[in-house]
Amino acid sequence: MSMPSESEMFEPRHYEAVRRPLLEAETLPPWCYTSERFYAREVERIFRKVWNFLGAADQIPNPGDYFTLDFAGIPLIVLRDAAGQPRAFANSCRHRGSELLSGRGNCKVIQCPYHSWSYALDGRLKAAPEMQKTRGFDPASYGLVPLRLETWDGFLFVTFASEAPPLLSFLGELPEKVAPYRLEEMACARRREFVMECNWKLFVENAKESYHIATVHRATINRYASVRMAGYWVEEAKGEYVVTFAQHDGSMALLKGDKGFPTNESLEGRREAGGTTAPLIYPSTYLACTIDCAWYLELHPLGPARTRLIHGALFPKSRLARPDFADVAANYYKRWDITIEEDIVASERQQRGLSSPFALPGRFAHREPLVHEIDNWVLDRVLDRR
Ligand code: FES
Ligand SMILES: [Fe+2]
Repeated sequence: MSMPSESEMFEPRHYEAVRRPLLEAETLPPWCYTSERFYAREVERIFRKVWNFLGAADQIPNPGDYFTLDFAGIPLIVLRDAAGQPRAFANSCRHRGSELLSGRGNCKVIQCPYHSWSYALDGRLKAAPEMQKTRGFDPASYGLVPLRLETWDGFLFVTFASEAPPLLSFLGELPEKVAPYRLEEMACARRREFVMECNWKLFVENAKESYHIATVHRATINRYASVRMAGYWVEEAKGEYVVTFAQHDGSMALLKGDKGFPTNESLEGRREAGGTTAPLIYPSTYLACTIDCAWYLELHPLGPARTRLIHGALFPKSRLARPDFADVAANYYKRWDITIEEDIVASERQQRGLSSPFALPGRFAHREPLVHEIDNWVLDRVLDRR
């Protein structure tokens, strides 16, 4: 199966085999993970249309705190304004377009490093030296370009689409689904960034199938998470997400025998106290809520074969106040660091294999329903209409 020409790449006929029911379907053709053109279409039709997750709002606790990032080719500033409101702006000066801020920090005004135009934290242009002679120049028309930013349970989401529905309608029933975990009462205790040499979909697919656990994690989580022995269900999802519940003893975030925190009080008497609820918020945010903590995997597409991964570790705030927090949290960090590395290695290896001109579409195991579902969600958005 050779790659179709550029003009034919989005014709539905090339993807008919992926559209069949799971056990009759083929996997996505390899070019979906390697082609610049396919990637550009995903950026245009997916990442520039949806609500994109940008982590916990406690990254910017105080007025003036900011961070910058490049999301799907768009340089962004995310900050907390003087009134305490999180906001997002295009990181492009209204004079001649310079990038304004880089990295993370705190500022009272945003001053352009090129000609010193300066902007208030609400985006207004406050000062523009020597612009008095410029005819008809109205500073009120040269504020930063605002982007829509909304929060749910202390998480930041940004959209580039003015027509996108409000965040809560995008999320649908997800907030209700994870309400027992009280994510709003958790804090992000550690945030780690990685750059992976693989397509964003490979890591997402990996996060939502349990088939690889016995092989990739054979020496780590497979020894106790025992997804093979306990239950693992795909649950109904109304909203832009898919969700699984895995039934197991203990915390999904610890290796066997390691000391952890007690089960969250909010889960007492609930079935959630006996497993892990793990949604994938489309397109690329994995969230895992287990009995004593939660974590997220946030993906930023950087190119067809490059993806930024951010792991955030969430614990109830009361745990962070414990004198033994650092010692106990280290056990969780160890588990995450090991398994994330195992998944990155697997995804990068898969990317190399798929990059071969001899790579061909494969078939799905019954344990990969969400890979199939996620891939079809992507096709629903990127293919040309018949
Ligand atoms: S480009 Fe920003 S002040 Fe000139
Ligand atoms: Fe994994």
